[in-house]
Amino acid sequence: MSALVIVGAQWGDEGKGKVVDLFAAHADVVARFQGGNNAGHTLVVGDARERTVVHLIPAGVLHRQTTCVIGNGVVIDPAVLCGEIDELQGRGYLTDPAQLKIDERAHLILPVHRKLDVAREERLGEKKIGTTGRGIGPCYEDKMARRGLRVVDLFDPEYFRERAARLLEERNVELAQVYGWPAVDLDEVCSEYAGYAERLRPHVTDTALYVSEQIAAGKRVLFEGAHGTMLDIDHGTYPFVTSSNIVTGAVGTGAGIPPKSVSRVIGISKAYTTRVGGGPFPTELDDEVGRKLREVGDEFGATTGRPRRCGWFDAVVVRQAARLSGMSGLAITKLDVLSGMPKLKIAIAYESEGKRLETVPAGARAFAAARPIYEELDGWSEDLSQARRFEDLPAAARRYISRIEELTATPVTLISVGAEREETILLRDPFLL
Ligand code: IMP
Repeated sequence: MSALVIVGAQWGDEGKGKVVDLFAAHADVVARFQGGNNAGHTLVVGDARERTVVHLIPAGVLHRQTTCVIGNGVVIDPAVLCGEIDELQGRGYLTDPAQLKIDERAHLILPVHRKLDVAREERLGEKKIGTTGRGIGPCYEDKMARRGLRVVDLFDPEYFRERAARLLEERNVELAQVYGWPAVDLDEVCSEYAGYAERLRPHVTDTALYVSEQIAAGKRVLFEGAHGTMLDIDHGTYPFVTSSNIVTGAVGTGAGIPPKSVSRVIGISKAYTTRVGGGPFPTELDDEVGRKLREVGDEFGATTGRPRRCGWFDAVVVRQAARLSGMSGLAITKLDVLSGMPKLKIAIAYESEGKRLETVPAGARAFAAARPIYEELDGWSEDLSQARRFEDLPAAARRYISRIEELTATPVTLISVGAEREETILLRDPFLL
C-alpha cells in the first residue's frame, strides 16, 4: 500500500506541477482532491521546452501510463475541463478516455458562480480577497448550502433543471439585487450543460471506489494538492484564503479514502516565498530584491497572469504547514533563482507587540502586525542548473538547504534547480522515503 500526498507548504504556486509530473513517473494513479481551476500548473517538457498549462486535470497527465483522477472534493467548471481535454488531445495526450476519471459526486461550477465571484470582488474594491474569479468560492458555498449541482446530475436532465431552478432562484436574487448584475437564464444553463454531459460521460465514475481498489491492489497512488497550506479555509490566513481544505486531511473527504491509507506526505516550498491576491505577507520585499525574484523566477500567475508578490523564505509558515500535514519530506523548488544574491534571509519567527511568535497567529490583524525576525545566510554566485546531486551544489547553497531542514524539522527530499524535468536533485525515492 503506497499513497503519497503532495501539498503546497506556502501560499500556492510552489512548483507542485513540476514535482507531481516528476513523481508521476513512479505513480500508477494521480488524483486531485480539492480546489478547481483556480489552480494552474505549468509543465515544461522535452527538447522544445513545450509548455502545457493544466488547471483541472492532474499534472500527471503527460505520463501515458498514469491514470488521472478528479476526485469528489474538486469543483469542476465543465467548460474549462472540456477545453483542457481538447487541448491535451490536440497535443497527442489523453487519447484513451480511460486515462481520465471524473468523480460523479464532484460539484459543478455554474455561470452564476463565476459572476458572483467577480461581482463581489468588484464591490469589495480595496478590501477584495483577490480571488481568481473562477467561481470557486460561490460553488463551495452552494455545496455546503446543499443546493449545489453535481456531475452525476448532468445525466438526469429533469433533475438537473429542477435543481438549477432552485439554485438560481436564490443566487439570481443576490446577483441582481445585491450587485446589480443581470440574472442568469435557466434555459441557457440547461442547454449548455446538456452538451457537457455527453462530452464528459466516458470519464465519469465513482473515483473513491476506483482509488481505494487501486490502493488495495498495491498500486502507487499520488494525491496532487492544489494551492498552498496558508490558503486553507481552516488553517490558512483567513479571510485571505481559498474555499477548500488543502492540508493532507482533505484527501480523506476529497478523494473518499480513509486517512490511514496515506503513507507519505511531501510538502512543496519555493526556496523563497510568493503570494498572489490580497492578505498579509510578513517577508514580502517591496524593493529591488523583490523585483529581482519576480523577474528571475518568472513570478506571474499561471491562472491569471498576475504578478506575484515576492519575499524571503518564511520558516514559520513552512514549519506550520509541515506540522498540519505531517510532512515526511520537503521538496524545495527554484533554488537556482537565488543565485547571485550576496546575502539571503530566512524568517525564523515573528515579533508582534513586543512578543516573539513561533507560529502563524490566527487573527488577521495580529498576522498583519507580525514582523519577521530574520537570520542572515551567505548567498552563492554559481549557476545551479547543472547540479544533479546534493554534492554538486556550492557550500552556501547546501548550508541554506540544511538550515531549512533544521528550521522546519523536515528532511529535504528533492531540490529543483530549473523548470525542466532533468533540472532536479532527487535525494530520496518519494514513495519509499
Ligand atoms: P479563489 O480560490 O479564486 O477563491 O481565490 C482565493 C485566494 O486564493 C486568492 O488570494 C487567490 O489568489 C488564491 N489562490 C487560489 N488558487 C491559487 C493558486 O493555485 N495559487 C496561488 N494562489 C491561489
